[in-house]
Amino acid sequence: MIMIYPIVAIGDAVLRKKCRVIEPNYPAINTLIHDMFETMYEANGVGLAAPQIGLDVRVFVVDTEPFAYDEELSHDEQMSLRDFKKVFINAEMVEESGEYWDFNEGCLSIPNIREDVSRRAQITIKYQDINFQEHIESYDGLIARVIQHEYDHIEGILFTDKLSSLKKRLLRKRVQLISSGKVKTDYNMRFP
Ligand code: NI
Repeated sequence: MIMIYPIVAIGDAVLRKKCRVIEPNYPAINTLIHDMFETMYEANGVGLAAPQIGLDVRVFVVDTEPFAYDEELSHDEQMSLRDFKKVFINAEMVEESGEYWDFNEGCLSIPNIREDVSRRAQITIKYQDINFQEHIESYDGLIARVIQHEYDHIEGILFTDKLSSLKKRLLRKRVQLISSGKVKTDYNMRFP
């Protein structure tokens, strides 16, 4: 059985929570992760964090395959993006380093808004896999970018928080419309 969750829209308090650590006995964790991937694919996302389906727990999933067909990227980059599908449980950012660079980000919880966001190029992250085995890994490029965006979600941060105050002011009306449900998406959403 597949459960496709509605995506929680900006304005819902769950997106502002610092999410909590889960234990290996968390109920139906395998089903939850499976359904999170399916919900993400249904919405054509490359990442999805638990608060986006209403759960304040430190879980997010990433699949960067849709980025793999960008012809501006090297063959090696394309291949690593194509195969990067991973679940991150209880993630903690260990380090972010390198130059800041801009990338045009979007978010399933803030549909139809895309803006350049500046983040550091390299990350080292500690997390547990589906078997609650711990890993520490380093990433750069688009994979790092997607992980940073999803990691922010489990800390209660949205990409729009990282914009200039001018940009935020310009977007305020559109964000209010999204929160009040006046937005068109090709996936189901849940409004506050
Ligand atoms: Ni997002």
